[in-house]
Amino acid sequence: MREPNASPTPEPVPDPSLDAAVAPLEVAPDAGREWWRTAVVYQVVLRSFADGDGDGVGDVAGLRARLGHLAALGVDAVWVNPWYASPMVDAGYDVADYRALDPRYGELEDAEALVREAHALGLRVLLDVVPNHTSDQHAWFRAALAGDGAARARYLFRPGRGEHGELPPNDWESCFRGPAWTRTTTPDGEPGDWYLHLFAPEQPDLDWSNREVHEEMLDVLRFWFDRGVDGFRVDVAHGLVKAPGLPDAEGRDRRTEEHPGWDQDEVHDVWREWRALADSYDPPRVFVAEAWPARRAERLPLYLRPDELHTAFEFEPLHVAWRARPWRDVVDRSLAMAGLTGAPCAWVLTNHDVVRQATRYARSQWAEKGTNETERARWPDEVPDLALGRRRARAAVVLTASLPGVLYVYLGEELGLEEVEDLPAALRTDPIFARSGGTDPGREGSRVPLPWSGDAPPFGFSPPTRPDGSPSAPPHLPQPAGWAALSAQAQDGDPSSTLSLYRRLLALRREHLAGAGPMRWLPTPSPDVLALAREGTALQSWVNLGADPVALPAGARVLVASAPVEDGVLPGDAGAWVLVGG
Ligand code: GLC
Repeated sequence: MREPNASPTPEPVPDPSLDAAVAPLEVAPDAGREWWRTAVVYQVVLRSFADGDGDGVGDVAGLRARLGHLAALGVDAVWVNPWYASPMVDAGYDVADYRALDPRYGELEDAEALVREAHALGLRVLLDVVPNHTSDQHAWFRAALAGDGAARARYLFRPGRGEHGELPPNDWESCFRGPAWTRTTTPDGEPGDWYLHLFAPEQPDLDWSNREVHEEMLDVLRFWFDRGVDGFRVDVAHGLVKAPGLPDAEGRDRRTEEHPGWDQDEVHDVWREWRALADSYDPPRVFVAEAWPARRAERLPLYLRPDELHTAFEFEPLHVAWRARPWRDVVDRSLAMAGLTGAPCAWVLTNHDVVRQATRYARSQWAEKGTNETERARWPDEVPDLALGRRRARAAVVLTASLPGVLYVYLGEELGLEEVEDLPAALRTDPIFARSGGTDPGREGSRVPLPWSGDAPPFGFSPPTRPDGSPSAPPHLPQPAGWAALSAQAQDGDPSSTLSLYRRLLALRREHLAGAGPMRWLPTPSPDVLALAREGTALQSWVNLGADPVALPAGARVLVASAPVEDGVLPGDAGAWVLVGG
C-alpha cells in the first residue's frame, strides 16, 4: 500500500531493484480472506495468562475460560507463544516435540477445543513455530548425541579447532551471551565434536541444508493447519540457514552488519515452500515473521515478497524515544517499506522479549533517547515514574491503533501493567540472566501472571483449589500487591481505565478504520504533536508527545482520549481520536 505523504524519510528507503519481485503493489483488501492485513492480534504467554488447574502455571484450560476477555476486548486473533513439550529452558522456545503440548499446558484435545471455541467467537488462532533450533531434549538431538549419524546430520556438529579440538569451530557468539558452540562428550566419555547454538546450549541449531529438516518442519505445519490453526508466528525467521563452511564472523555485529550466521539468501527458499503450503489450504493460512536482519530497510522486504511471509513485526516502536520526530520517522520508514512489498505493517509496542512500555516510558533516560534490550541491564539507576509511564503508554496506543496495518497487543498491556523489576534472582530462569552473570535481569519481568480479580495475589490467576481439592500453588512468578488496582475486574466498569481505553479504541478501529485507506500527516500547532488522517474516514488521530497542552482542531468531536480533554485542549503525553467535519 502506498503512502502518499510518507516522506521525508531520514534513512534510505528499501531499494526495489534488489529483487524484481519486490515491486510496488496495489493490494485490494478482501476483508474475509485478507483479515490478516488489518487485524488486531493478542499475544498470549500461556504460562502467564490464566491458570485452569491450580498449579500456578497458566494453561490452555485457563485461556479457554478467558476467551471472553479477548472477544470483549475486540481483538481478531490470538497468538499463543510456544505451547509444545519443552524443558522450558527458554520459556518453550526450546521445543522437545512439535506435535505435543507440554503437559503443564494441557493435551492435544485441549488445543483442538481452544481452536474450535476461539473460532466460534470469531477469533483466529496463530501458533508460534521455532524452526531455527530444537531443544536438546528433542528425540533427534538425543539420537545425535548417542551417535546416530542421520540424526547428527540434522544439526551442526563440527570438530573443534586447536591441537586437540579444544577451541570452538568458529568465533560466533550466542544471542544469549557467550560462545555459540558447546563441546560434546562421545558415548565412551571422550571429548567430542562441538555443536552450534545461536541461543542457549539447550537449543541446538538445525542444519537447513539437510532436506529432512525441511520435510519435518513442513509436516509440523501441516499437523497444526489440519487442526484448524490459522497461521504461525515464525521465530527468528532470518536465522535457519548459515553461510557455507561456517566462516568466522571476525567481530561483525549480527545486529548491524552482515554475519555468516544470519540472513542468508537461501532462507527465502524455505519461506517459499512454507507459503505454498499455507496457500494450499482453504482458507489460506498466514505467517508473521520475527526477523531482525541487519540492514533492515534493504533486507526485511525480501521476507515479505508475495510468495514468502505475509507480515513481519515492526520492531522500531520498541526502541524509539518518546518524541514526535523520531516516532514520525519510524512510521514513515515502515510505511515506505510496506509500500514496496504490499505487506501491511505489523505494529508492536511491546512483547515477551522487551521491557513493558509503561516502564520504558517511565524513565527519562529511556523516554528521551530510546531503548534497546540491553539497556534493561541499566534499570536501577533511575526510579521509574510509573504514573507518567502509563500515561505515555496509553497515548502511544492511540497512535499505533490508528496506523494502517496490523496491531499486536501483548498480554497485560491492555491493563497498563508495568515491568516487574524486583523479582528474586532465584526465580529469574531466563538464560540471559545466568549467561550475563546477572548483569542483565532477563525477560521474566514482562511475563508475570496477569491480575484478573480480587484484592490479593493470585488475583484470580489461579482457581482457589486444584481438581483434587488441595489449595492451588502460588503463581510461578509473584505479582506486585499494587496490581489489585490493575486487575481486569477493577478496570472493567471504569470508563477511565486502560482496559476501557483499549476496548473503545478497538471498537472504533473496527467501525471507522477497518476499510480506511492510506494515512497522511496533518499540520499541528506544535512540533511535539503528531496528527494523522486516513483516507475515507473523518477520524483523525492526535497524539501529544510533549508536556504542554495543545488545542485540537476547532469543532472536533472527541471519540476517545487517553486523558481527559477539556474545552478542546489535548493535555501533554496524551492522545485522542476525533471526528472533524464528519
Ligand atoms: C525469539 C523469541 C525469544 C527466544 C528466541 C529463541 O527471539 O522471541 O523469546 O528466546 O527467539 O528462540
